[in-house]
Amino acid sequence: MERPRAPVLLVALVGAVTALAALASPAAAQSVNRAAIDDLNTQLLYVALPLTLFVELTLVYAIYRFHDNDDPKPTVDDPALETTWTAATAVILLFVGVSAYFVMANPYITPAAAGSADVATPEGADDLTVEVVAYQWGWQFTYPEANVTTKNRLAIPADRDVRFELSSRDVVHSLFVPKLGIKQDIFPTGGSVARTRATKPGEYNLYCAELCGSGHARMDGTVVVLNESAYRDWLDERA
Ligand code: CUA
Repeated sequence: MERPRAPVLLVALVGAVTALAALASPAAAQSVNRAAIDDLNTQLLYVALPLTLFVELTLVYAIYRFHDNDDPKPTVDDPALETTWTAATAVILLFVGVSAYFVMANPYITPAAAGSADVATPEGADDLTVEVVAYQWGWQFTYPEANVTTKNRLAIPADRDVRFELSSRDVVHSLFVPKLGIKQDIFPTGGSVARTRATKPGEYNLYCAELCGSGHARMDGTVVVLNESAYRDWLDERA
């Protein structure tokens, strides 16, 4: 049997990457935060998939090619090859670092802390503010502009920037809404902020993501994303 040629391997590689990337491409995101995180995942996947396939195919090829080699030779130094893979690794790590940095620096992912200069919130932003108080073991949401307070159920309008000013009554908690790409620690001293713009009306689960005592596991809630008029009605009913 003839051993596979490089072009055959290359075609197999490109085919497999394309198929896997198509499978991996995410459905439309439910918020701008989630979209930024999903995009980063996809970008990293485009780097990780070819590398994985390259390593695995090289391994399979080496096993097949050398399995009955009775006279193995030691590998010789190849400075050019070593320089190449060191540089290639550096380029890949740089790409991963820079891509991740841009997502971390996104003003929805990392808004400026409450009370500090609002550097990370875009100029002229008209955010709806919701005060979130975490406690052992539940959530309280206050809408200062409407004088409304709810427990464990957070309603926000779709397609509008919302800013959550977070504080805790007791220990450290963490606001975690996986579907909206929100995760932020909450401290008894306050000061932390989360921010989002939800794009799809619906109900999303909210969890506490910081071990905070025996009731931690049941410290959950619901985020209801409503269109603007439904949100106004919801607020009026409670005002
Ligand atoms: Cu609050 Cu865990």
